[in-house]
Amino acid sequence: MTTSFAAGVRIAELAADPYPAYARLRTEEPVAWVPELGRYLVTKFEDVMFVERHPELFSSVEEPSMMTRAIGNTLLRQDGDPHRRIRKAAEGPVRPKMIKDRWAAAFQANADQLIDGFITDGKADLVKDFAGPLAATNLATILGLRNATATDMQRWSQAFIDGCGNYAEDPEVWRRCEIARAELDQAVTDALPDARQIAEPTVISSMAHADGALTDDEIRTNVKIFIGGGINEPRDATAVAMYGLLAHPDQQAQVIAGEIGWRKVFEEAVRWIAPIGMYPRQVTDTVELGGKTLKAGDKVGVSIASANRDEAVFDCPDEFDVHRDGANHLAFGGGPHFCLGTWVARISIADIALPTIFRRLADLTLVEPDTVRMDGWVFRGPLTLPATWTAEHPHA
Ligand code: HEM
Repeated sequence: MTTSFAAGVRIAELAADPYPAYARLRTEEPVAWVPELGRYLVTKFEDVMFVERHPELFSSVEEPSMMTRAIGNTLLRQDGDPHRRIRKAAEGPVRPKMIKDRWAAAFQANADQLIDGFITDGKADLVKDFAGPLAATNLATILGLRNATATDMQRWSQAFIDGCGNYAEDPEVWRRCEIARAELDQAVTDALPDARQIAEPTVISSMAHADGALTDDEIRTNVKIFIGGGINEPRDATAVAMYGLLAHPDQQAQVIAGEIGWRKVFEEAVRWIAPIGMYPRQVTDTVELGGKTLKAGDKVGVSIASANRDEAVFDCPDEFDVHRDGANHLAFGGGPHFCLGTWVARISIADIALPTIFRRLADLTLVEPDTVRMDGWVFRGPLTLPATWTAEHPHA
């Protein structure tokens, strides 16, 4: 009996660099049972699209669900009407017009304030000192968590992410997750009286005032998916976009000269290295996919990182190339759970964070471009980006 390539795919190998394994799976076995994951990996663009177009066959309710255990039953692990009700209650503040009118100025101030804090040093880690705290502060702003610090927000986020992936049942991970839950519950509880009294375009206030308003408990629970899902991804997208430009000076020059827009840089960054690489679904009925017959209860890993490198859709998919057309990637998903924070990310990163950092830090240079290491396969991004610069650009 021959053993399939998929049988030997290891989590450690995917975390180090999933792309070679995905390329092989797309060619040899696009829907493949990976024993170490206990699920079928779906790696081709068209199959991922099929999954997203058929939520009745590929449920977001996983049983058992590590995510539900770690952070409660949020909208991300619900289907149909219950999902739609929560999503609708939360979505007002994250629509593009609302972000532009109400939040863009705050996002700009958050970016400038962070840069003010380190600009005279002439060096910083662009992940730890900029992309991470900026994502956290922007998220606290739109949620309406006025007293949460960027450090707390990032610690909670990491604790939830670790909890959602705690298949090893590490008690320390559960302990940190529990502390984060308790602290965040308190922060939301503190914010709720004002949020219930005054209708504001923050996510918490919107959840409290929408038709079919959420209960306090539902708000506390659903804020956790915003924290777990709204910091790492914008951090990593910002970091990858900065890295992509700094490692490709010719493309950077075209962008700085205004020949190519920042939105294109952003879309290419999230296509190239999708901040969320894989998310789970559970099969509800017998279905053919990519030459396999899947049955009710089977677990699926939807690999959008792989779909974004599918050579059937993208030319030279492994290359970072800001000249590509449009946003036909799947970095934000595609079906009913399509990322609620898409426009928060586009506006805060493409319109504000990236142009601001490249404008204000002259001669921005990576300290050791060859040693930049990306990590992770469920979430992926650069661990650090040490950089230097010479002087402050004018604010023009
Ligand atoms: C570049 C940045 C981001 C990327 C690449 C990204 C990616 C994704 C993806 C792929 C999903 C779908 C997951 C699934 O179907 O299982 C998702 C869902 C979600 N994202 Fe994002 N995200 C980003 C930023 C954000 C931000 C900034 C927020 C908060 C403001 C956010 C909030 C959410 C929420 C609440 C959901 C669940 C939506 C639902 O279940 O209906 N995301 N995101």
